[in-house]
Amino acid sequence: MGLLIKNAVIVNADKIWDKAQDILCEDGKITQIRPEITVADRHLHEIIDAAGKKVLPGLIDIHTHLRQPGREDKETIETGSRAAVKGGFTSIMCMPNTNPVIDNAMVVEFIIREANRVGLCNVYPIGAITKGQQDGELTDMAELKASGCLAFSDDGKSVLNSRLFRLAMEYAKMLDVLIIEHCQDPLLSAGGVMNEGVVSTRLGLKGDPGIAETVTVARDIEIALYLNARVHLAHMSLKRSCELIRFAKSQGIKVTAEACPHHFVLTDEACSSFDTSTKVNPPLRSQEDVEAVKEAIADGTIDCIVTDHAPHTKEDKEVGFDGAPFGLIGLETSLGLTMTELVKPGIIDLPKMVDRMSSAPARLVGLVNKGMIKPGFDADITIIDPDREWTVTQEGFVSKSKNSPFIGRKLKGQVEYTVCGGKTVYRRA
Ligand code: DOR
Ligand code: ZN
Repeated sequence: MGLLIKNAVIVNADKIWDKAQDILCEDGKITQIRPEITVADRHLHEIIDAAGKKVLPGLIDIHTHLRQPGREDKETIETGSRAAVKGGFTSIMCMPNTNPVIDNAMVVEFIIREANRVGLCNVYPIGAITKGQQDGELTDMAELKASGCLAFSDDGKSVLNSRLFRLAMEYAKMLDVLIIEHCQDPLLSAGGVMNEGVVSTRLGLKGDPGIAETVTVARDIEIALYLNARVHLAHMSLKRSCELIRFAKSQGIKVTAEACPHHFVLTDEACSSFDTSTKVNPPLRSQEDVEAVKEAIADGTIDCIVTDHAPHTKEDKEVGFDGAPFGLIGLETSLGLTMTELVKPGIIDLPKMVDRMSSAPARLVGLVNKGMIKPGFDADITIIDPDREWTVTQEGFVSKSKNSPFIGRKLKGQVEYTVCGGKTVYRRA
């Protein structure tokens, strides 16, 4: 059985097709793209008319927190998958800071099994670099790779032990998997709850200085150079980080990086509301940093856009700013924010957005049949209405958690359909 998408204006990372096409998907793959495809109805299970829309390769988020196992009150693989497909994501990679930590094959297999049962999007677990994320002993990365991990991270914190981090990078090079580093030296952060600067001083909140991020960025770049190995830097938030990465790339060092919408949309001024959904790690920074992150996304210094979807319950977040956990939800607002803040103002065009949100992430983690609409590729497709205006509301979220600082914000650009493996997994109501 097949899915036929009619009148599709296809946007790949290299170009927007100038004429609408029909796309036929069979057995989970894209099998034909032609101006007009006619197939007997009995061979089709669905037809989608994409007239007036844009048809993109399914979005890929390589930085999501699903909370299962351990904190199913915040999010489960099922609710997180639902949020993902509503946001246009057909593949997500979930971070290992669960309980238990994703540091052994059993947890990896559990997540993959549960994601398959849910059957909405692809879920790829990210293995921990160190056992229990305790920065003491490396996990068995070969075993974790064999059970399905494409990448490794201790996200939530840095691997502070530089010797251990070096070893992890050496193993990762051998295994050809990606190391994703959360860059934040906790000794420098020293319990800061927002960006260190004039705003934190004014609000009387403890500041986390930018150097906590940049010294780790610099260290990791040096290790990557020394080993001629790859390193991927998570959620870059600072102008200085972008400068270091840009320079490293110009030297041929194998560093790649990601940024989150909240770091190119909000500044630390947002914390003045004391809304704990603005408390995030790394913290919201200055306007100068916001501009630099946008520029780095545009020029490719930042390779991809990720959500860092970090769900927390109302109970956990409804405490004083100092006591609240870090994190905000991002799966359902990422496309709208990127369209509104980067594409509409002309900072990037649609093909570049497709690169940063689909093709580049696929490339980084080696998902060779994803990230492009082309015969032979997986039938993971996101259909958007680039001009549709909508407002973020609390009731609109399907994620189990509602900790978004974007509630009430008007956005332009919305997901109409999400197709994963040739099956429609989301359709806007
Ligand atoms: O804000 C954050 N929340 N940053 C992280 O690095 C971890 C995440 C979480 O797990 O809540
Ligand atoms: Zn994270």
